[in-house]
Amino acid sequence: MSLLIKNGRIITASEDFFGDILCEEEVIAQIAPHIDAGKNIEVIDASGKYVFPGFIDPHVHIYLPFMGTYAKDTYETASRAALVGGTTTLIEMCCPSRSEDPLESYELWLSRAAESGCDYTFHMGVSRFDDQTEGKLREIVNRGIASFKIFLAYKGALGINDEELFRTLALAKQLGVIVTAHCENETLVAQLQARLLSEGKTGPEWQNDSRPPHVEAEGVHHLMTFAEMTGAHVYCVHTSCREALQAVQEAQLRGVHAWVESVIPHFVLDKSYTEKPDFEGAKYVMSPPLRDETQHDALWAALRSRLISTVGTDHAPFDFIGQKDMGRDDFSKIPNGIPSVQDRVNILYTHGVCKGRIDLNTFVDAASTQAARLFGMYPRKGTIQVGSDADLVIYDPNYRGTLSVENQEMAVDYNAFEGWEIEGRPSAVTVRGKVQVRDGKFVGELGHGQLLTRKPTHF
Ligand code: URP
Ligand code: ZN
Ligand code: ZN
Ligand code: ZN
Repeated sequence: MSLLIKNGRIITASEDFFGDILCEEEVIAQIAPHIDAGKNIEVIDASGKYVFPGFIDPHVHIYLPFMGTYAKDTYETASRAALVGGTTTLIEMCCPSRSEDPLESYELWLSRAAESGCDYTFHMGVSRFDDQTEGKLREIVNRGIASFKIFLAYKGALGINDEELFRTLALAKQLGVIVTAHCENETLVAQLQARLLSEGKTGPEWQNDSRPPHVEAEGVHHLMTFAEMTGAHVYCVHTSCREALQAVQEAQLRGVHAWVESVIPHFVLDKSYTEKPDFEGAKYVMSPPLRDETQHDALWAALRSRLISTVGTDHAPFDFIGQKDMGRDDFSKIPNGIPSVQDRVNILYTHGVCKGRIDLNTFVDAASTQAARLFGMYPRKGTIQVGSDADLVIYDPNYRGTLSVENQEMAVDYNAFEGWEIEGRPSAVTVRGKVQVRDGKFVGELGHGQLLTRKPTHF
């Protein structure tokens, strides 16, 4: 069945105009000032609303064995949460441990996504690089995965050493694959953690001191040097502070092909949240940690100037009861992560657009278009044009509501933004022309989501 979206204010990364959008057979068939509804066409009236391209979250964890436990969401819960929040494409990190086979892991992660309500793809985690690895990674790239993920942190777990880093980047350069990287100096993190713990500083409020801004900047600098020597194109995930941003900017001026992602918690939460009493600060433990509030202005400015290309979430849901409390006597054992896949778009709109920090085009660019471009999905995804997938968000700027664990789809026992007011939300959301959300509620079909195969573009 065809779908006609009428009278909306259509916003892309570069345009802003009123018009109608006709969707047929999963794609956008026509965009014009007025399109008449024929027979058998469902009409959604978008008067007084924005129409955005479906949002893309370039950094989520759904199936994640990590720090002695597993993240809570499944594709059922995470894709419902994503869709209600306006996100129509998820890029999940496939994160095998050092001892696991990359191809088997890829297949495991892929099998878990079969029930997804939204489209998805993966960054292939490289947690070991030995003589068998290259052939397996080539095979995974041939199957349509055009990005890798590496950790320069989590010593002894997911982190790789410098020889592996070099070999991964050299292969990525050959294949035209972009490498996304978690940048922190893992030796410094381990030493600082040990020192703080030996001084009896065991609570969640010490997370920031164990991985301060210069430890992140050192990780970024390290990646940049290796990218320069190999020519690989790299993308720093969850960049949290001006020190790390400066390290990227310096490298860009040297000619390094580097891009920056920041994630929604770092724009709006600060380290004082980790000081909440009764161990509640554990809800706010992630890596890199929440920073001093003075870092927020740097992130918003970098987003405005497009030094930050994308805003993701690093959604990593661990329950407060039973998981976060594994680190009650030792902050380094608190499973890292702040769940936010449902709330990213509404928070970015409320705290970015409504507060005048970014304009509507930058909002769309950072939350959708840039991820599509960088990860080989544009213009199928990330924009509104004839021939693109009909992934659309009809967004109601007059909606007022409150974020809460009581009304979330995410399968976790808290909401890090409990009680926060939002000024707008998606009223309807389509995935390839199928209405998956109406009146802010998931009404769609699980399993409608498809794997997006991608071709390398970073040569
Ligand atoms: O704290 C975080 N970021 N948890 C998820 C794993 C990662 O580092 O991306
Ligand atoms: Zn990370
Ligand atoms: Zn270095
Ligand atoms: Zn992550």
